[in-house]
Amino acid sequence: KKNTAILAIESSCDETSAALCVDGAILSNYIANQTVHEKYGGVVPELASRAHMQNIVPVVDLALKQAGIVMNEIDAIAFTQAPGLIGSLLVGAQFAKSLALALNKPLIAVHHMQAHVLANLIGDPAPTFPFLCLTVSGGHTQIVLAKSPLELEVIGETIDDAAGEAFDKSAKLLGLPYPGGPLIDRYAKEGDPARFGFAEPQIPELNFSFSGLKTSVLYFLQAETKKDPQFIENNLKDLCASIQATIIRILMKKLKKAAQQTGVKQVCIAGGVSANSGLRSALQEYGKKFGWQVFIPAFEYCTDNAAMIAITAYHKYQAGLFSGLEVSPAARAEW
Ligand code: KG4
Ligand code: ZN
Repeated sequence: KKNTAILAIESSCDETSAALCVDGAILSNYIANQTVHEKYGGVVPELASRAHMQNIVPVVDLALKQAGIVMNEIDAIAFTQAPGLIGSLLVGAQFAKSLALALNKPLIAVHHMQAHVLANLIGDPAPTFPFLCLTVSGGHTQIVLAKSPLELEVIGETIDDAAGEAFDKSAKLLGLPYPGGPLIDRYAKEGDPARFGFAEPQIPELNFSFSGLKTSVLYFLQAETKKDPQFIENNLKDLCASIQATIIRILMKKLKKAAQQTGVKQVCIAGGVSANSGLRSALQEYGKKFGWQVFIPAFEYCTDNAAMIAITAYHKYQAGLFSGLEVSPAARAEW
């Protein structure tokens, strides 16, 4: 039997990535990070699109070389269709469509959030179905019940900010550079998580809210710096630890509820925030306490990457779920 080689492209935000997967095994996952956004304190969509234009050809080339595969051996081309920044998505979609046309190979459109969940299948050991996945990044916060590779159900999500935004916006209030999440993580390690208390929302069901936390941090810092202008500098580690602990409590409370409601005991995390050391240890701790089997993908598969698009496309390929060349990307999309 001939192998199935899939080239996948991810360009939904500020990472240009290409990956090769053969029969479900990832052979390469090349990621070009865009650094142009740092000085602006956030991703600038126009600059992201332009950087994707510059990166896409060399990135695909490197992914092919690393995998030891030539263009003619590719059986299908996959790309991120939605959700994301529209200008960024257009670059990857147009490139994938042109390649599919030129090589006369099928095209597979992939939903970015489904791919984050299925990134867990790349791991060894990988979870078996059904499993729960908490997807936490700068743009998303969701709890997904994965029944099979193609049956993924969103059972909870944020009604306002994403968890990563809560980290980044809090970090900004503390005067830390963007993206502040990793810095909060670093300072939190030496701080007291019980020193300060911040608002924890009461949101129904399995949904999340983080905008109240940001406001609570803002008002607290305003009041304290009025009394002591050096307040942030003098208490930075405890502030970071307390903010991080609050975000983790909000996330874990709903994840625990989801596990109770569904009876599912395999629990995964995905997305950039899953790099957070406090969240990782909270997950391990809950695992021990509640008898969960816990899975955390390797970091290169947690943040935006094309390997997760490739693994999702592999399952769509097997199910014959192809797209016509008229397919367009979308900034938002149900799945
Ligand atoms: O998945 P990702 O790379 O990009 C998308 O947003 O799709 O996630 C980036 C987010 C940022 O908000 C960043 O601050 C956060 O993940 N992040 C962290 C850590 N590493 C990355 N947040 C907390 N602790 C970390 N160690
Ligand atoms: Zn993402």
